[in-house]
Amino acid sequence: MTDNYKDLSITREEVLTAKTKGQDELKRLIQSARNSGELVFILENIGSIPLSFGADCFLSLIEYENKDVRFWAIKNLGKLKSIELLPVFMHIINTESNTSVKREAVSSIGRMRRTEAIPSLISILKDSDPKIVCQAIRGLLVFKGCKEVDTKLKALKDHENEMVVSVIKKEYFGNESTKKDILPHYETYPFLVNTVVKGDVRDIMHYVPDQSVHLTFTSPPYYNARDYSIYPSYEAYLKFLADVFSEVYRITKEGRFLIVNTSPVIVPRISRAHSSKRYPIPFDIHHDLIKMGWEFIDDIIWMKPEYSVKNRIGGFQQHRRPLAYKPNTVTEYLMVYRKQTTRLIDWNIHQYSDKIIEESKVPDNFETTNVWQICPKSDKVHSAIFPYDLCKRVIEYYSFVGDLIFDPFGGSGTVGRTAKKLNRRFFLAEKDPVYFEYMKSFQRENIFEGTPTHFLTLNQFKSTIL
Ligand SMILES: C[S@@+](CC[C@H](N)C(=O)[O-])C[C@H]1O[C@@H](n2cnc3c(N)ncnc32)[C@H](O)[C@@H]1O
Repeated sequence: MTDNYKDLSITREEVLTAKTKGQDELKRLIQSARNSGELVFILENIGSIPLSFGADCFLSLIEYENKDVRFWAIKNLGKLKSIELLPVFMHIINTESNTSVKREAVSSIGRMRRTEAIPSLISILKDSDPKIVCQAIRGLLVFKGCKEVDTKLKALKDHENEMVVSVIKKEYFGNESTKKDILPHYETYPFLVNTVVKGDVRDIMHYVPDQSVHLTFTSPPYYNARDYSIYPSYEAYLKFLADVFSEVYRITKEGRFLIVNTSPVIVPRISRAHSSKRYPIPFDIHHDLIKMGWEFIDDIIWMKPEYSVKNRIGGFQQHRRPLAYKPNTVTEYLMVYRKQTTRLIDWNIHQYSDKIIEESKVPDNFETTNVWQICPKSDKVHSAIFPYDLCKRVIEYYSFVGDLIFDPFGGSGTVGRTAKKLNRRFFLAEKDPVYFEYMKSFQRENIFEGTPTHFLTLNQFKSTIL
């Protein structure tokens, strides 16, 4: 916030002593400052101010050239909580160009907590900067229950800014989704637990109740890049994924997570006379996910060693001709989304007992960055399986012991086996009978150890519910 303090000749103690001696002494100290750095240092270190102090030692600074000086002058004026300063703050709001300074003036009006300030705060709701509007909302929410304030604030539910809308929805329109929450948040339906269903996931999800899944981690079939993923067009492929993920949204519990592993894919050229085509899957499905209500949380990069990926750079290496550069792709995305809610993460956490929270504590040596360096895993039956370490991290970081973890594209069942190992429960769908049988073979080898896993056809699954 401040310039640098290297050459300061003033100490914090001197500022506090001057304040203790009274406003004249403080004013003298402020006037003795040699530059804006010293001025900011003094203003920043004043701390609380007796309400009996006058405003004049700060008033002279509100037009100061340096924005940090203006900011701190206004912050100190705000501490006086004087309604007489309302016109001053309004003048700043109408003339100031710096957002932080302007916001501090709005905050100062809010701090007064005076009904006389309500019309001014209401007038600020028309500001073009959403941060300023949010600050005014904050000041007005002190008067929640007052008819005039409630009417003005409720009208903002149609505001063009999403942040403003989400604050108003939380304050005035409750949480629609919780009304449908039949089970306690930590619970799920027994017929889903440790179950693998053979069939198209779109048919399977049809029988899954609203809000029954705690976490979905999946890697969808890649567009026409492998045998199991043939779609008539890229558009049809994106539509298929949108259908799946909007159903995942419905069956996900309030405020819980979806993590989608994808990367751009390349569909090979048909002959040397044509070029191959690259499809940016993570970027294209992102828009659909946001539209259906998923809130974007994070992008995690899964980074693989170069030796483990296909060599694309070979051709370029020889001739080094610009435009022909094709780097080896060592990354995939783990896009992290949360089901929309007005509740904070703390609410989700506190749906669990202290014992479960303790048991679910993420062990030491967790990853601190969004780049996860993990070797890919090859498999004799399935060509695109998750490495165990990738699943382990996702499940440990985004679920609690006992949670139900869903993978709509189960494949070889890595998500299920890892979930079980980490004392979670799982629900998987897989269309291909070969992979379904492959998962069963893990059962025979007792890899899905512990409580039994149910391998069901779609009809058998239906009959467990009806
Ligand atoms: C990328 S693989 C997932 C591999 C898995 N993550 C693992 O660790 O083994 C995608 C899987 O989705 C399956 N699949 C494709 N379309 C499906 C659909 N409509 N319903 C269910 N499964 C489908 C494919 O057969 C394939 O096994």
